[in-house]
This record gives sequence, C-alpha cells and structure tokens, in this order.
Amino acid sequence: METSIQAISELYQKKGDLHYDGEGVSQLAHAWQCGQLAKESGVSPQLQLAAWLHDIGHLLSSKEGTPTSYGYDDHHEQIGGAYLAQLFSEEVSCPVLMHVNAKRYLVSTDPEYRKLLSPDSIRSLALQGGEMTLEECNQFVTMTFAQDAILLRKWDELGKNSELKIPAKEVVIACLTQLAQECI
Ligand SMILES: [Fe+2]
Ligand SMILES: [Fe+2]
Repeated sequence: METSIQAISELYQKKGDLHYDGEGVSQLAHAWQCGQLAKESGVSPQLQLAAWLHDIGHLLSSKEGTPTSYGYDDHHEQIGGAYLAQLFSEEVSCPVLMHVNAKRYLVSTDPEYRKLLSPDSIRSLALQGGEMTLEECNQFVTMTFAQDAILLRKWDELGKNSELKIPAKEVVIACLTQLAQECI
C-alpha cells in the first residue's frame, strides 16, 4: 500500500477501534496516549509522530484478531517501519522499526521494566526473540535511534491506560494528520 497522510488517516478511521486481547485500549487510544506522552516529554515532532504511529503495522496486517494468541509474530514493527519510510525520514521510521527490539533490550537490562508489560506484550516477547544476550544489548544500544526507540518503548507501556478519556475519533485523527503534515 502506498503511504500518504490520507491513507494513514483512513486506516485509523477504519481500523482504529480495533482492540487486542491483553490490552485495555483500542489502537487509536493507544496511538493517542503514546503521542501525548511524547509531546509532554518535549521531543521532536518526528519522534512524537513515531510514538503515534509505532503500531501502524498491526493495522496494515490483513490478519484478524490478536496475532500472539494464535502463536505467531506479525512483525508489525518491520511492516510499519517500511511503510512509514516511504513518506517520512528515518527520525520517524527507525524508532518504529526498533520498538520491539527496544522492549527486548529493556527486559534484558531493567528488571523494573518487565513489571510494566501488558499481558499481550509478555505473550509476544518470546515470539519476538525473548531477552537479548549481552552482545545483542551492546550492539542495540549503540545503534542510531536506539535512545529514541527506548523512549518510545517506555511511552508504549504507559500508553495503555483504559481509564483515560480520549477526545472524539475525528479530533484525534485531525491531530494526527496535522502532526504528520509537519513531519514531511
Ligand atoms: Fe508494537
Ligand atoms: Fe504499542
């Protein structure tokens, strides 16, 4: 699918209400919450957009339901990263591409982080390669955008608050569209 801001906005319009088993929020609510956490942290618009769109690969998949409950990894970070790289710079696409490995890195290096993982994130961890070896950790952390991916990953765990009220779908999608336009 060709990447455009209109295509992204239509994707969230059509599939943003999707829930994954083990997560308390819809894809759109998760995207909004992660985007807000990034904005509050004062990071660049590009990293804010990466936070918004890090799970777009799930929406691009034609498979229905929750991949991890069927025991497979949908490689959503690769699908999403490649999709976004068609339109945006690496500042947007690379943290998206790296957000799964950032989870593997954090689980391997920060015992407190594991406690933050949602049931679906725990279920997917093994399918995604599990903990990293020391060598893999050292390799990951020196990569360009590793720190951005780590920041994004922390918002990812925090952005699953089912108690939090989010604005109407049209408002959320309008915010997303405006930010995406800034990042082109
Ligand atoms: Fe993800
Ligand atoms: Fe996520």
